[in-house]
Amino acid sequence: MSFDLVLFGGTGDLAWRKIMPALFQAFRHGTLPEGGRIIGIARDDLSDDQYRELIRSRFVDVDLSKRPSPEEFQRFAGLLHFLRLDLSQPQDYRRLADMLRERHAEVVVMYLATAPDLFATVVKQLAAAGLNRPNTRLVLEKPLGHDLASNREINDTVRSVLDERQIFRIDHYLGKPAVQNLFAMRFGNALFEPVWRREHVSHVQITIAEDLGVEKRGAFYDKTGALRDMVQNHALQLLCALAMEPPISAHADAIRDEKLKVLRSLKRWTPETLDQHVVRGQYGPGTVGGQPVKGYREEAGVAPDSRTETFVALRAEIASWRWAGVPFYIRTGKRLAGREAEIVVSYREAPHAIFTAPPGSANRLVINLQPRDGLELHLLAQGQENRRNGQVLAPVHLDLDFDKRFGSERVGAYERLLLDVIAGRLNLFVRSDEQEAAWRWVEPIIEHWRNDDRGPRPYAAGTWGPSAASAMIARDGFCWSEEC
Ligand code: BG6
Repeated sequence: MSFDLVLFGGTGDLAWRKIMPALFQAFRHGTLPEGGRIIGIARDDLSDDQYRELIRSRFVDVDLSKRPSPEEFQRFAGLLHFLRLDLSQPQDYRRLADMLRERHAEVVVMYLATAPDLFATVVKQLAAAGLNRPNTRLVLEKPLGHDLASNREINDTVRSVLDERQIFRIDHYLGKPAVQNLFAMRFGNALFEPVWRREHVSHVQITIAEDLGVEKRGAFYDKTGALRDMVQNHALQLLCALAMEPPISAHADAIRDEKLKVLRSLKRWTPETLDQHVVRGQYGPGTVGGQPVKGYREEAGVAPDSRTETFVALRAEIASWRWAGVPFYIRTGKRLAGREAEIVVSYREAPHAIFTAPPGSANRLVINLQPRDGLELHLLAQGQENRRNGQVLAPVHLDLDFDKRFGSERVGAYERLLLDVIAGRLNLFVRSDEQEAAWRWVEPIIEHWRNDDRGPRPYAAGTWGPSAASAMIARDGFCWSEEC
């Protein structure tokens, strides 16, 4: 299938860090359809060769195993082209239209890896240049807006010129292999579904911890914060994948309908729950990986008196027959003690104890998203050391390491999502109503913080966040997985 992939923001951070490496991996794996062009778009005045050289020089930052050899890059470079385009100039879009007309590719992907406040402008200009044809697919990166109103505005503009099935809203967490396996585990096996409910599950934890700070994105992050950057999208999408009902088929809308139901069933906030079930934090100076690091307010681009949160922990509840009363704890933050993303589904204690078990050893299913991709089932068993006393059980766990089982050269999130866009598969992309429901749920938190003079709670870089997050979960008689 022939395709043209037009990359707006073609010299930007996202293009370097995620999109080009993913396109190269697909090229290397032979999964990128042949006969494609990748057209980088930016205001810079570059020739095709200069653009290729720029991309080549950026690959030095990529993991060695994912870096092209000179011969590989030469072949990949044959796909790369560049077009100088000023996003506000209609005649520049007409030049793009001319360039695309030369080939009549079967699929034209417009990938907007630009600042979100430019989305509406670009989309209107594309339509004015006649570039909203039936074979156009539009990819929108998060964040899509900064609140419900701005999100709606973007979605309304986009839908006024394209059909919903042409719009691919990326949440790269949905492309992660561990999330694919969560779907496979839940809906491809009969074992877990009967115990995937309130009668058996005591609580669920979703942690997305990063040890990195805000890197070079201080100015963007300071306007955004962890709630908008991670909770509104990645964490809530994980929650949906965990909590949704089995879809009637693998069709994109069947899946998205079920995710939407979860978002709509999230219990609304009250003044009490906003006060007690949400913790925001901001990192101060500390030590990460043995190195001293600066505090958030000293980062480039960040206001010295910033009140932006770099950490959020919250307790959500889903008002449904399956989940009523089961707390779902979400926690995410920058400059935490490690890079670790995991979901822990904790089961209730055995209803009648004939054995003695160590405290806090109820069954748990742990889904590791990163750094490793795996599944652990924590059980109790007769351990070697307990031979003399068969009444006492020891914790053990079954450990499935998907990287070992399937090889660590598996398809990465961006690679999979880009291939899905080219193939027209929408399953792993977010529909506008899902996004709106997610914004509707987080907005009261934003509002509450705006009116709360206390600001974020400080935590030292390299720790697990403010102690208030531990106090919040402890009030329910639970603890975060690394504390138990
Ligand atoms: C992005 C956020 O969406 O996800 C970043 O904007 C964050 O702030 C990143 O670092 C985390 O992604 P991953 O795949 O590294 O966990």
